[in-house]
Amino acid sequence: MILPPQHPLAAGRTTESRLVRAYRGERSDTTPVWFMRQAGRSLPEYRELRVGTRMLDACLDPAMAAEITLQPVRRHRVDAGIFFSDIVVPLKLVGVDVEIQPGRGPVFGRRYADAAAIAELTAIDPASLDERAEPIREAVARTVAELDGIEPATASGASDGSGGATPLIGFAGAPFTLAAYLAEGGPSKDHLAARTLMHADPGAWRALMDWTADLSGRFLRAQVLAGASAAQLFDSWAGALSLGDYERHVAPASARALSHVHDLAYATGDADASGEPATLAVPVVHFGVGTGELLGAMRGVGVDAVGVDYRVPLDVAAERVGAGVPLQGNLDPALLAAPAPVLEDAVRDVLRRGTAAPGHVFNLGHGVPPETDPAVLTRVVELVHEAGA
Ligand code: CP3
Repeated sequence: MILPPQHPLAAGRTTESRLVRAYRGERSDTTPVWFMRQAGRSLPEYRELRVGTRMLDACLDPAMAAEITLQPVRRHRVDAGIFFSDIVVPLKLVGVDVEIQPGRGPVFGRRYADAAAIAELTAIDPASLDERAEPIREAVARTVAELDGIEPATASGASDGSGGATPLIGFAGAPFTLAAYLAEGGPSKDHLAARTLMHADPGAWRALMDWTADLSGRFLRAQVLAGASAAQLFDSWAGALSLGDYERHVAPASARALSHVHDLAYATGDADASGEPATLAVPVVHFGVGTGELLGAMRGVGVDAVGVDYRVPLDVAAERVGAGVPLQGNLDPALLAAPAPVLEDAVRDVLRRGTAAPGHVFNLGHGVPPETDPAVLTRVVELVHEAGA
């Protein structure tokens, strides 16, 4: 399906942005940069806005979600907004009993770790998300309308005068990461309940994974159709798995989630071999923590770019994912609190190693720690734009 004409990719507003070009494996005037968890507790303007509003209520308030998404773009002049939401929002929307506890994470009213509980959960039709996703569509549309007026920044933070817009990245949780929470009923260290279930009852596991795949896939599709120019699938906890278990019990469901967006395409302006207008699919990035052993397989679920955590240097990651794959990452978030010269050396090292990939999007190896000084993040953006040229 060709994206609607007003979509930023279809209208050509973000098609040549640094971010979208990097995900296509192209280099621009400089290296694009954004940060996982760039919106959130590191920003005083976020903490102020969130007073008295619970996390999931904030996600479902379109004006608030849009404003929170825009805060780090205005402040840091990053090359993309990441939609302010959460991986459990689609579950909440279809009626699952879930809350996000501050300092802890998603907590469910019960655990889904056996066939009976999973049968109850999967009796909910994932398609019911489509009609309930209106707050998401509205928040994305509001955000994109504002981002349309924010041109990419030069190294000094000034607008670059290109007339282009800042792209929005939509996201969803991958089936395993969601199942890790669902099986446990909340956060856990080793995701033991999910890892047991996939072996103890492969049928129930498969049902749970297919269901979460369809729900996450629809959540992602809603964001892209409403205006997101790229999509990131977060399989944050996939690093808990062996390669064999990942390939057998997890990768097929991640591919299924992404099948919900693979048909969404924009015209490149060129003609293909048969003279028809050439199209490209919306770029998809796949990220997980501690996934050094899985990088090749994560690429294999059908993504354009792979996000790398801080444990594997990007030049090593480039070999593991195979030739021609753009990479995203991977400054250790711990370095944000280190003395400036140490941090600057680390940023330059990431940029240098990132040249091993055809396209590089600078990011952290995981989310921004809440106690980070926002001025440091702004400085990192300037340095990446300056040194990444
Ligand atoms: O700026 C962004 O990156 C966009 C927003 C975003 C949030 N959650 C907002 C949020 C994104 C992309 C997510 C995804 C998410 N949620 C993931 C995958 C990314 C990752 O970090 O690996 C996961 C595992 C979750 C589940 C979750 N939600 C956790 C572990 C937590 C943290 C709990 C805490 O308080 O430390 C949340 C809550 C959450 N999601 C917050 C934010 C800004 C903090 C809530 C608050 O500010 O009160």
